[in-house]
Amino acid sequence: MTDVRKLPRHVAIIMDGNGRWAKAHALKVAMGHRKGVEALRGIIRESSDIGIEALTLYAFSTENWRRSEAEVSALMALLLEYFSSEIDELDEKNVRIRILGDKQGLPAPQREAIEKAEERTKENGGLKLNIAINYGARAEILSAVRTLAQKAKEGEILPEDITEADFSAALYTRDLPDVDLLIRTSGEMRLSNFLLYQCAYAEMVFPKVLWPDFTVADYHAALDSFGARDRRFGGRKE
Ligand code: FPP
Repeated sequence: MTDVRKLPRHVAIIMDGNGRWAKAHALKVAMGHRKGVEALRGIIRESSDIGIEALTLYAFSTENWRRSEAEVSALMALLLEYFSSEIDELDEKNVRIRILGDKQGLPAPQREAIEKAEERTKENGGLKLNIAINYGARAEILSAVRTLAQKAKEGEILPEDITEADFSAALYTRDLPDVDLLIRTSGEMRLSNFLLYQCAYAEMVFPKVLWPDFTVADYHAALDSFGARDRRFGGRKE
């Protein structure tokens, strides 16, 4: 069992390997994503049960629109299905849902379902569940720069007074702590434009398992690995 005293406050996950899982099982890629959602349910439940403060999942990047129309539609349909089938349980567990990304670029039904889920759970004080959809970290950073530049232009803030806290507050993740632990499954070791600013001091683990096969035990192994690390944030421990 993971040592609760050393739990990360904020876990971020790149759920990679759905496509390879589907191929290995001679199934369509959409089935890989569907199995991926099943794996996700267990991880969300466990995060809530053990008291993780924030969990951020990379569900759809700004680059994922380049995939085939069939795969994009399957992912969009899954998202819609997810929000209608899970919302009752998530709300019951006191989970607060937040979407990170450009909502305006999403089809109307997905946007409406997301906004409904955010509205319904906004006062919940349990797990902060953030789902990155139509998300790109560079776009997020650029948008923060524009927000602050506009404030400076309007005389609300002086450029030399802008702090890291002001910058963080202009990101999609405004009230979340920095990422402590980043997990990317399937053995790939890249950030792929995910939470570039927020991962400045994140510990990273790259389990080889494909996302649909990622279990609660694998999650605990990643949490244990985090607990065993010596975090110095650039300093030195004597
Ligand atoms: C990466 O695997 C995974 C994605 C691009 C999508 C992740 C989405 C889900 C798990 C489902 C939707 C999420 C929610 C919240 C309902 P890949 O397809 O790139 O895998 P590959 O590298 O093996 O092809």
